Amino acid sequence: MTASVQFPPSGSSEASVQRMLVVGSGGRENALAWALARCPGVEAVWVAPGNGGTAQLEGCEALAISESDQEGLLRAALELGVTLVVVGPEGPLADGLADRLRAGGLAVFGPGADGARLEASKQWAKALMLEAGVPTAGYWAASSRSEALAVLEREGRPLVVKADGLAAGKGVTVAESIEDTRAAIEDIFEGRFGEAGQSLVLEERLSGPEVSVFALTDGRTMVLLPPAQDHKRIGEGDTGPNTGGMGAYAPAPLLDAAALEQVRQKVLEPTLEALRQRGIDYRGVIYAGLMLSDDGARVIEFNCRFGDPECQTLMPLLGGELAAVLLACAQGTLDQAPPLTIAGGCSACVVAAAEGYPGKVRRGDAIHTKPLTTPQRQLFHAGSRLEESGTCVTAGGRVLAVVAQAGDFDAAFASAYAGLDQVRYEGMTFRRDIGHQVRRT
Ligand code: AMP
Ligand code: GLY
Repeated sequence: MTASVQFPPSGSSEASVQRMLVVGSGGRENALAWALARCPGVEAVWVAPGNGGTAQLEGCEALAISESDQEGLLRAALELGVTLVVVGPEGPLADGLADRLRAGGLAVFGPGADGARLEASKQWAKALMLEAGVPTAGYWAASSRSEALAVLEREGRPLVVKADGLAAGKGVTVAESIEDTRAAIEDIFEGRFGEAGQSLVLEERLSGPEVSVFALTDGRTMVLLPPAQDHKRIGEGDTGPNTGGMGAYAPAPLLDAAALEQVRQKVLEPTLEALRQRGIDYRGVIYAGLMLSDDGARVIEFNCRFGDPECQTLMPLLGGELAAVLLACAQGTLDQAPPLTIAGGCSACVVAAAEGYPGKVRRGDAIHTKPLTTPQRQLFHAGSRLEESGTCVTAGGRVLAVVAQAGDFDAAFASAYAGLDQVRYEGMTFRRDIGHQVRRT
């Protein structure tokens, strides 16, 4: 890892011409497509199905194929001569998209269904952490209501309740009381999360600031990205219901280089080793959601993909070797990849959502933007759609994000908010206090 304070980073890539396919439709995929398109050696980027932002991105083409259409994606990737498929979201990974594409002869950045269990089954992930000695919250797995209630009875204190499977970020309740814990358990076994809620994990409640760490890996070697901090609550002052993430910044000073190295040694290396021991060849990103408790960093959750909006925040800091590095992860040759250049400055990301988010949202409002992108500022779309008339309209909860880089967080956030001032749509909703942890202004 080398540091520079230049934006965009000056890294280069010696890789041969590459043709990239990014699967997904969120802000994360917009940022990935943008970052790959600017890598030297990348000839073409397709996004399936993409959004209103990727449809207008220079060097990038939309493919109208759903992220769940494994055969359609395989066929298109082979026809287009794609060098690397980068799978953005967890759902397709858990459903075995990477396995299907690999079986068809493609290089894929993203774990197979076995590795994706790190995110897709909380029970499986907790058992792996226990086995690997990874610091995490104490837990109890339960496969029935009575089993879960018996744990609660025995513990006699509020617990964190987590549906076992994928629940679109809504499967976790940090209960304040025993009564709330009981209600959350009942909710899960009454089928609120469908199949994801046929079993659950109860955890002891930890406290402390949260930070996300991302390791790019080919199953043996790993490259860590700067730690990022997300803002999960909808309301200013970190209040109100949880969302997918309303903004982020990186590098989060919560983890300095020495602390990040500790996370590598105590969390990521043992996790990779435990995956290997299970016969899992994990090629993609391991996202460790950490809580910095009094006795050190503990894993709150693992995800098998980039965070959103952490990905939007991080991509502008990465150099032109990114495509070669992701390809090397997919091919199992990360130890031979060019070092990934990481810019030394600060990146700030502010998400704008639709009115009503994270509940029922209004859609179909025209998005008006004045020019706002510069080499140090990006606009990444998420829940948006480009209509045939050429108008871009809102089409989801989180609509877009503005990301900016500068030498310090005050300047980076000032620029991100100034960029957001150039965007307008009916019901536009965003937090004005993103980065309050690191801003003086
Ligand atoms: P998750 O969906 O697993 O990311 O959890 C959502 C949020 O719940 C996390 O970002 C934490 O804020 C909180 N959380 C999860 N597990 C715990 C825990 N064991 N103790 C305290 N808070 C937790
Ligand atoms: N920003 C949190 C996530 O992607 O899960």
